[in-house]
Amino acid sequence: MEEHFERMPRHVAVIMDGNGRWAKNKGLPRVAGHKKGVEVVKRMVPICGKRGIPYLTLFAFSSENWKRPATEVMLLIDLLTSTLENEIRELHKHKVRLRVIGDISRFPGRLRKAIENADILTRNNRALNLTIAINYGGQWDIIQACQSIAELVEKQEISAASITPALIESQLCTSDMPEPDLFIRTGGELRISNFLLWQLAYTELYFTDTFWPDFDEAAFDKALGEFSTRQRRFGKTDAQLTELD
Ligand code: IPE
Ligand code: IPE
Ligand code: MG
Repeated sequence: MEEHFERMPRHVAVIMDGNGRWAKNKGLPRVAGHKKGVEVVKRMVPICGKRGIPYLTLFAFSSENWKRPATEVMLLIDLLTSTLENEIRELHKHKVRLRVIGDISRFPGRLRKAIENADILTRNNRALNLTIAINYGGQWDIIQACQSIAELVEKQEISAASITPALIESQLCTSDMPEPDLFIRTGGELRISNFLLWQLAYTELYFTDTFWPDFDEAAFDKALGEFSTRQRRFGKTDAQLTELD
């Protein structure tokens, strides 16, 4: 039966974790988990369409993941490159706008080119805003926003006193997206691992032991079901919110 939820998130942000352990449990190399993980991402796109979720942001490679063995880093970069190159037309056909956030300067030219091509091709699509975070770190995002603002102060275009949350938000990589309503981390770890630090300030957090390669529509529905039962108070009292209903 098709589930119905009272409230749906507009923006879901996901730490896709557990690929390596999924593979290990099956006696497979870690990369097999990453490959299966790509299949799960592909399935998420139509599910978001069906559910009317307009923003999906996925953490695919953190600024700390460079610390992994060079062979795994290389395999991940190759997988990101081939996935972008091979899937972009299909995503475009489904009116997906695909963007990458993160410091991409450290990646090989071929991946940077694939990112640029995806951005140009899908720029005007509006069905789903799919954002992939690679070489992304929440601290890096805040630092680069501070640097842009510091330059404006240096040039005396703004004063230090005029720095507001809205100004900082306008300089983050996510400036043209609503803040995430629902954060999902698969794979059982209970941490943020330097994902969207500023942006998650009031996001509802959901953790599941399910490994990312096993994360299917039913698992996503479970997260959405839980989200729809949460009361988002943003500092107010329960009474203040229910009076408005
Ligand atoms: C997440 O899965 C994917 C990336 C970080 C690229 P992991 O590779 O972290 O899988 P586990 O946590 O080792 O199981
Ligand atoms: C977080 O997963 C990053 C991504 C899923 C891309 P990790 O597996 O790298 O996180 P830690 O190191 O366990 O915190
Ligand atoms: Mg992990």
